[in-house]
Amino acid sequence: MAGVRLEGVSKVFGNTTAVAKTDLEIKDGEFLVLVGPSGCGKSTTLRMIAGLETPTEGDIYIGERKVTHLEPKDRDIAMVFQNYALYPHMKVFDNMAFGLRLRKVLKQEIEARVKEAAEILGIAHLLDRYPKQLSGGQRQRVALGRAIVRNPQVFLMDEPLSNLDAKLRVQMRAELIKLHQRLATTVIYVTHDQVEAMTMGARIVVMKDGVIQQVGTPMDIYYHPKNIFVAGFVGSPPMNFFKGNLEVGNEQIYFKTNGQVVKLPQISQDVLKYKNVDLILGIRPEDVKINEDGNNDLTCTMEIVEHIGSEAILHARLNGGDEMIIKCATNTSLPKVGQKVNLTIDPKRVHLFEAASGNSILSQ
Ligand SMILES: Nc1ncnc2c1ncn2[C@@H]1O[C@H](COP(=O)(O)OP(=O)(O)OP(=O)(O)O)[C@@H](O)[C@H]1O
Ligand SMILES: [Mg+2]
Repeated sequence: MAGVRLEGVSKVFGNTTAVAKTDLEIKDGEFLVLVGPSGCGKSTTLRMIAGLETPTEGDIYIGERKVTHLEPKDRDIAMVFQNYALYPHMKVFDNMAFGLRLRKVLKQEIEARVKEAAEILGIAHLLDRYPKQLSGGQRQRVALGRAIVRNPQVFLMDEPLSNLDAKLRVQMRAELIKLHQRLATTVIYVTHDQVEAMTMGARIVVMKDGVIQQVGTPMDIYYHPKNIFVAGFVGSPPMNFFKGNLEVGNEQIYFKTNGQVVKLPQISQDVLKYKNVDLILGIRPEDVKINEDGNNDLTCTMEIVEHIGSEAILHARLNGGDEMIIKCATNTSLPKVGQKVNLTIDPKRVHLFEAASGNSILSQ
């Protein structure tokens, strides 16, 4: 096992900067997820670690070894791709054994390792089948098995579950987490799915346009997003954003948006320097309470009420004209479409960003 370190690594293709100069350290045994929208540089980052792309600048270390210019086969990594590309004419056993045979591992050793990996993955009964005789989930397990038998220092996985249907994906997600707990090998996992990132990663790296936006635990990223991009990328439905400015009263600071005001928490003097700066208020859909007595921050009209089992998603039109999405439990009485409703927002749960830079200016 080993950690992985990127030092000033970048990748430029022609005039596209796929990955801007990046420093990143993945700890030994860690499950790290790279997440971000399509084209943000996730696969390129992974491919540089694998040795399938050479960095334009910078160095890559696996453990203490500098591997920047080593061939993929000399890096002691195993990669699992989205299209797991099993050899159709080979049985499961041979698919899993293939890489070991190439490396001239002894026959007995190959047999033992394939059997062990097949046990771990619950596919021991499938070793005599051809890929076309397997379900999607079983094929994905074989692809994982092919990586596991290599017993690498690092697993690199690029959207390995995206070909599976939603239910199987959730199941395989849990299995991968269990597998990592068992093997405790370093995993770098790429996905564009924020739910997958939040549920699987011990730490998450959020990327955009080749630049790392934030590195942190799922909770850090969710509760303390460093900028509007991260705040809007993580969470479903996404965070609501409203343009406006601070309004400073005697004892209380408010955020004024389209003629309505929202109470802000007792915030530090630092934030007051943004008094005359355009800001954006961020409110997560679950941080809005409807029709509670007392502190009514905003008034709105209900436009759509969507029931999704234990939760409902409400689309509300604020009196100022903006839309607010609200998530609430369905075990309370829900408002009707067309009804006027008061909304209360917990000051401790709001986010505040500078409009021009998008950076968070309120870290609670
Ligand atoms: N071989 C290449 N030649 C030129 N441009 C490339 C090459 N590979 C990737 N790119 C560009 O680099 C950028 C990053 O691509 P990359 O494949 O790393 O994105 P990604 O985050 O994995 O996206 P996706 O979620 O769609 O897989 C994109 O703009 C892409 O078009
Ligand atoms: Mg990709």
